Amino acid sequence: MTDLQAYLDDYNVKAQKVYHQSYADLFTWMKNQTDYNQQQMDNSAAALIQFDQQQALIAQSNFTLNGYSSNDIANNLTLRELQKIQTVGLMLSSDDSLAFQNKISSMQNIYNAAYLCRNPSAPHAWCPQTDRMYLDPDITLGMASSSNYSELLWLWQGWHDQTGPLMKSLYQQYVTLGNKGAQGANFQDMGDYWRSAYEDANFTADVEAIWDQMLPLYEQLHAYMRTKLANELYPGMVDSSSPIPAHLL
Ligand SMILES: *[C@@H]1O[C@H](CO)[C@@H](O)[C@H](O)[C@H]1NC(C)=O
Ligand SMILES: *[C@@H]1O[C@H](CO)[C@@H](O)[C@H](O)[C@H]1NC(C)=O
Repeated sequence: MTDLQAYLDDYNVKAQKVYHQSYADLFTWMKNQTDYNQQQMDNSAAALIQFDQQQALIAQSNFTLNGYSSNDIANNLTLRELQKIQTVGLMLSSDDSLAFQNKISSMQNIYNAAYLCRNPSAPHAWCPQTDRMYLDPDITLGMASSSNYSELLWLWQGWHDQTGPLMKSLYQQYVTLGNKGAQGANFQDMGDYWRSAYEDANFTADVEAIWDQMLPLYEQLHAYMRTKLANELYPGMVDSSSPIPAHLL
């Protein structure tokens, strides 16, 4: 295969099918969260990772970007597309790809299924359906409209207690698999892979510099909000020199 444009045209036809299938299955699951639909979504997302890997290997073995500067590539759509295809983010076996997707969707399931019980005397698992408060809309509306310190704390902490601890081990496995895949693709870890999307070799330093520029304004805004909260809404409950409690903002 020597004709780059012909390869890219062929790639685009194939990629459209694989990407479309993955997003269609994601959409089906979002509308209707059954185990079967989750399985379908995990399978097609794992197939997408496998597709990206296969295409990266084909693109790497048939074409090279040696001899082009990063400006040449940045300014040329064809070269840029080749570079994107060659740079695969995650190199994982098909079993690991599926496991990786399954960690993600299992965490999403926990997030979507979590609820607080309005009836404080009902054991959580036996909370009547009508007393269950889900994130969307009940908890979100409660957080937006209440200015009652203990109610906000109950919502905020209750929601986190129903999600974070259940996800912890899944999240650790997700990170382990993600880092393994990123290292297989010659990144240091998944964070390194994510940052590469910004196409900025000085990304970390650039963000630090912007943050340093904003910090004085941020500190003033923070101090202003904290003073208002301490003096007007929550007298005696907000410390005038500590961070603002998360459930109040
Ligand atoms: C939800 O998905 C299941 C498959 O798991 C399917 O049998 C069912 O018809 C779907 N329900 C709706 C309303 O689409
Ligand atoms: C090529 O890219 C560089 C930086 O990426 C830019 O400064 C330059 O203007 C571009 N040239 C053209 C012809 O687009």
